[in-house]
Parts: sequence; C-alpha cells; structure tokens
Amino acid sequence: MTTTFQRACGLSELSEDTPKRVELDGTPVSVVKTEGEVYAIYDICSHANVSLSEGEVEDGQIECWLHGSCFDLRSGKPSGPPATRPVPVYPVKIEGDDVLVSLTQES
Ligand code: FES
Repeated sequence: MTTTFQRACGLSELSEDTPKRVELDGTPVSVVKTEGEVYAIYDICSHANVSLSEGEVEDGQIECWLHGSCFDLRSGKPSGPPATRPVPVYPVKIEGDDVLVSLTQES
C-alpha cells in the first residue's frame, strides 16, 4: 500500500500546545505541535462527538474538554475513562514549512 501524504498546514501556523483543526479529504484532524514534535490525531473524541482540538495539550496528550479523557498523541490511546477506545493517529512529515499528514492509520 502506498502512503500518501498531503499538506495539512504550515509549520509556522502552529503554536506550541495549541491544536489546529484541519480537514483532509473530509476527515477532521487535529494537528498539534508540542515538545519539538508535530502530531496528527483524529479530531473527534471516541466517547462522544466532541472536537479534541478545543482541548488542552499537556505531557504528550490532548485532553477532551467535555469529560476529561486524555489521549496519547503518539498512540491515540485514552489514559482513563470515560473514553475507552483509542482515536486514530496519523503519520506526520515536515518538509520545509509544510506539515504533511497521511491519513493511513498507524496501528
Ligand atoms: S466526549 Fe470526550 S471524554 Fe466524553
């Protein structure tokens, strides 16, 4: 399977620990720059239909603002309830000022 990366946003558009919501092929994705890395995670909480990009980023996790589950930006796994299912995370590449994301899901 070939992995197709597409431009999500500019690196210079990202502020540390401030998620940016983008849509790629109709899929809402939250792009997060934190601790020198850039991550891409599906923007909808696995517990209810809530945009994760409106939550806070801390310690490599993004917090759902509604009920407080935190999702690991590397694995998408929740650290605690009420969410029990992971959210998809996506590979990211940086090319110059371009943040490229592949919607191929990492397992
Ligand atoms: S909607 Fe995200 S934890 Fe409940």
